[in-house]
Amino acid sequence: MKRISTTQLRRKPRDGERIVMVTCYDATFARLVEEAGVDAILVGDSLGMVIQGHEHTLPVTLDEVIYHCRAVARGCARPHLVGDLPFGSYQQGPDQLIASAARLLKEGGVQSVKLEGGAEHAEGIAKCVRAGIPVMGHLGLTPQSVHQFGGYRVQAKTQTAAERLVADALALQEAGCFSLVLEGIPAPVAERVTAALEIPTIGIGAGVGCAGQVLVLYDLLGLNEGFNPKFLKKYDNFHRRVVDAVGAFATEVRAGSFPTEDHAHYPSH
Ligand code: KIV
Repeated sequence: MKRISTTQLRRKPRDGERIVMVTCYDATFARLVEEAGVDAILVGDSLGMVIQGHEHTLPVTLDEVIYHCRAVARGCARPHLVGDLPFGSYQQGPDQLIASAARLLKEGGVQSVKLEGGAEHAEGIAKCVRAGIPVMGHLGLTPQSVHQFGGYRVQAKTQTAAERLVADALALQEAGCFSLVLEGIPAPVAERVTAALEIPTIGIGAGVGCAGQVLVLYDLLGLNEGFNPKFLKKYDNFHRRVVDAVGAFATEVRAGSFPTEDHAHYPSH
C-alpha cells in the first residue's frame, strides 16, 4: 500500500477534509493508529516525556528519534510519516539541518521532517526542499524553547507577537514547508494564520480553525492521569484500564488462579 504523500495532505483542506495526525513511537501503536485511519503520524520528540520520562523534550537525540521512526515505519504502511528534528540537531544552521533531515529519511524511513521555529530557519528549509526533503514547520508554543518561554505558556497573545507569528508562518510557506503545526496559541490567531496560508495548518491547543489537528497519542488515550491541560480531550482512560488489567493479573498470580490448565503446554492432567 502506498503511503499518503505531502501532495495528498495539502489537497485535503481544498477537498473539504481535515487532516488527522497523531504522534506515535512504536510498531504496535503504529499498527493500531493506521487501523483507526489517521492520515499522518508524527514521531515526535515528545517521546522524551512520554517514553523516556524526561521533564521536557530537550534531551532527545537524533539517533533516538531515528530508532523510533524505524519502529513506526515497520508497524504501518499507509499513514504519512513525519520525523521530528530534536533540539540541537538543526539549530547550527542549514548544513546541520539538511544533514539531520537526510538521516531521518534515509535511516528512519519517514517521508518528511518537522522542525520548530520561524524565519530564522528559512534558508535551511529551502535547501532541504530543493534536496527533495519535505518539511513541516512548527510555530507558537514550541516545546524546545521551554526555557526561553519560562514554561509551557500560550504564545502570540499580544498584537505584536501575533504579527510576528503570521510573518514567520508566511516565511515558512515561502521557504517551501508543505504544512505547519500551530501549538498553544489563541484560536483567533490560528484562524488568521490558516486564512493567510495556502499550506494546511495542523493545530494542537490552537482552536477549531486549523486545517487539521494533532494530539500526542498517550495524551488522547488518557495514559497520564495527572496531565490535564485545557486543550486536551482524553478519548479514553487507559491509565485506569492498564492499572486495572495489570492489577487483575497480579491478583490472579498471587492467588494461584492464573495460569490454569487451559494456558499450559502439555498439561499434566
Ligand atoms: O513532539 C511532538 O509530539 C510534537 C507535537 C505536540 C506537535 O511536536
